[in-house]
Amino acid sequence: MAKAELTVAVIGAGAITGHHFSAVAAVEGLRACAVADLNKERVEAAAAQYGISAYLDYREMIRRERPDIVAIALPHYLHKEAALFAASHGCHMMLEKPMALSVAECDEIIQAAQLGKSRILVGHTQHYMAENIQAKFMIDSGLIGDLVMIHDIRHTYYFQNSRPDWFLEKMRSGGGILANLGTHSIDKIQWLTGSRVRKVSTSISHYGSRGDVEGSGLLYLELENGMPAAIVQGGYVGAARNETEIIGTKGMLMLKTGDSLWLSTGGPYVRVEVPHSASPFELQYKDLLQAISSGGETGCPPSYGRDIIAILEKVYASAVSGKEQYVERA
Ligand SMILES: NC(=O)c1ccc[n+]([C@@H]2O[C@H](COP(=O)([O-])OP(=O)(O)OC[C@H]3O[C@@H](n4cnc5c(N)ncnc54)[C@H](O)[C@@H]3O)[C@@H](O)[C@H]2O)c1
Repeated sequence: MAKAELTVAVIGAGAITGHHFSAVAAVEGLRACAVADLNKERVEAAAAQYGISAYLDYREMIRRERPDIVAIALPHYLHKEAALFAASHGCHMMLEKPMALSVAECDEIIQAAQLGKSRILVGHTQHYMAENIQAKFMIDSGLIGDLVMIHDIRHTYYFQNSRPDWFLEKMRSGGGILANLGTHSIDKIQWLTGSRVRKVSTSISHYGSRGDVEGSGLLYLELENGMPAAIVQGGYVGAARNETEIIGTKGMLMLKTGDSLWLSTGGPYVRVEVPHSASPFELQYKDLLQAISSGGETGCPPSYGRDIIAILEKVYASAVSGKEQYVERA
């Protein structure tokens, strides 16, 4: 007998939603059933495109559709309320990053998920990207020796007109380029090294043309294994970059995230052949499906999403105080 499909309802029909629907369509055992968004035009267009039901109210969607999985692709300040509602209806969750606005909110989500027996994957996509997976494999195989340090640089114009206002309001987003993209870099560094951030020292600036969030950040991190790492993020006009250099005792890797991977064991970088893999969103849904069927955890459980928010809180605390901050863990 064929295995029953799990239904997926998506909350939020914004920029990232298409990736969720494409992944759901590609993963065996999943079927999209509905989408909800306050924006009538947007939600109707998404529903028509994927042949599913449209709702303006996500609570009504969850009550009526009773989906097995709810994907939460909402502005950050709404992650908690949607996650609590989904958990109270026994739904599993694909919860977009960053998990919520604060550690306190993450704790509420974790508690509700435990009560509702909900499995959650927090969408830290970096774990699921082909170049990153290959880089981690090469690091773990010892190819570049012992890790010495990492530096990660991301430059992208953050204040473009097409960016929705909520991203640029601290109350609704939790922060600017560091909350949105810096969390990807922190996650990438922790995941590649298998070690966690224990100390941060930060400097940020606020010269954005819109909103009240920071537009750049320079982070010095120290990991629990003693390794130093630096993150440089710039959101003002300039040339786009997204590169991570991993320096070992026997070589170096250069990761151009989402693009390519480069290796040097002496001499100039040489491009590494990266095996084809499914899209990061497909791998995320497969991971969630596996956790649901096994009763285990996903590769990005809510405890990990919370950990990233705990670091982010210290990043901002360091920027305000001008002092290094230690990340405490539960
Ligand atoms: N994993 C990644 O690489 C990645 C990439 C982009 C965005 N994201 C994350 O995805 C999430 C959504 O980002 P986005 O870029 O799609 O944002 P967006 O602003 O484009 O979309 C958000 C949607 O939510 C809708 N919405 C707002 N309030 C609502 C409510 N109460 N009920 C129903 N709908 C409501 C808005 O109308 C909008 O259509 C964020 O957490 C973001 O950080 C992740």
